[in-house]
Amino acid sequence: MTEIRIDGARLWKSLMDMAKIGATDKGGVCRLALTDVDKAARDLFVKWCEEAGCEVTVDRMGNIFGRRAGRDPSSPPVMTGSHIDSQPTGGKFDGIYGVLAGLEVIRALNDAGVSTNAPIEVSAWTNEEGSRFAPAMVASGVFAGVFDLDYGLGRKDLDGKTIGEELARIGYAGDAPVGKPVRAFFEAHIEQGPILEAEQTTIGVVTHAQGQRWYECTFTGQEAHAGPTPMRTRRDALVGAARVIDAVNRIGHANAPLACATVGLVQVFPNSRNTIPGRVFFTVDLRHPDDATLRAMDAELRAAVAKTSEEIGLQSALEEIWYSPPVPFDVECVAAVRRAAERLGYSHRDIVSGAGHDACYVARVAPTAMVFIPCEGGISHNEIESATPEHVAAGCQVLLEAMLERAGR
Ligand code: GLV
Ligand code: MN
Ligand code: MN
Repeated sequence: MTEIRIDGARLWKSLMDMAKIGATDKGGVCRLALTDVDKAARDLFVKWCEEAGCEVTVDRMGNIFGRRAGRDPSSPPVMTGSHIDSQPTGGKFDGIYGVLAGLEVIRALNDAGVSTNAPIEVSAWTNEEGSRFAPAMVASGVFAGVFDLDYGLGRKDLDGKTIGEELARIGYAGDAPVGKPVRAFFEAHIEQGPILEAEQTTIGVVTHAQGQRWYECTFTGQEAHAGPTPMRTRRDALVGAARVIDAVNRIGHANAPLACATVGLVQVFPNSRNTIPGRVFFTVDLRHPDDATLRAMDAELRAAVAKTSEEIGLQSALEEIWYSPPVPFDVECVAAVRRAAERLGYSHRDIVSGAGHDACYVARVAPTAMVFIPCEGGISHNEIESATPEHVAAGCQVLLEAMLERAGR
């Protein structure tokens, strides 16, 4: 059988062209979900899919699917994909690499004139990041039946706008039902951590993804004048938040090396330099690959919030808004990725994903695996995020081979 090679230069150019949409001064992108820049990037992706001969559908969560027909139209597709949205200070690879690698797989099959038995599909999932609308991976979650459609469409950003309203505004409230049979799903992604680069390994064969728990916490104390109010009578909500932020960091360290614990968003009210903060809203993100440890971390967080409220005299509301359990990926799909890396002669190692991915939810309804490539310094969710053209091409070639194995030539 002739070997089908992806075109690394074409993939790289597509990545760089896409990175112009929402480009930031520091070389990254800001492409928050369902903003005008997300729409522009979606439009470009759809155009490229159509130019590659794909039939494009959009479902009610705004997930986009580009399908290359197979010989057996009754077969569910072998699917790949990731997300187009980014963090506010995001990079050029997180998410979009998996989308454009999928498109490159289709372009390479077209160039080679090769047909597959099962259709091949590339997907772009709405609001993976969870940055504008919490939680993360919400639209792949609806696809997988984890959330119902109304929940998905009803998620609000900090200004109160919903996913449903914003999808309609940018013209991506599709009419296809959310969810369909998938024969197998593969997602290519940068590692977003330091392991592959440190070990000079080209391919991460992702066997699992760690679990996550997301929380929203509000402390309410009393606004008062920063001058006349004695220290002993204050009920300063920001002091409460500061203690819990420190506690969250300690929870992470106490459960090292695998635990992660982050407060990434804080809102202080009224946020005036000479008023004692009366209310603080903040988020907590706890992660661990072992569910029991993650539960223990949850208990430690709850205890820290209760102790702090008591000490300072604050009212507290702690709500767990999302739980995504640790995910074992499909043994056979994982093996297909490993075999592909081996056949192609790339160095590889098994790895656990620290980040959440749409693959984590799709794994509930289809055999799923992921392909990781190194990123510079392990840095992601940062405008300086970087990956080499060689690694980008290698991950895509592995993706192609694993998908072909599943789709049948
Ligand atoms: C998604 O980027 C995550 O938070 O893991
Ligand atoms: Mn991502
Ligand atoms: Mn991300």
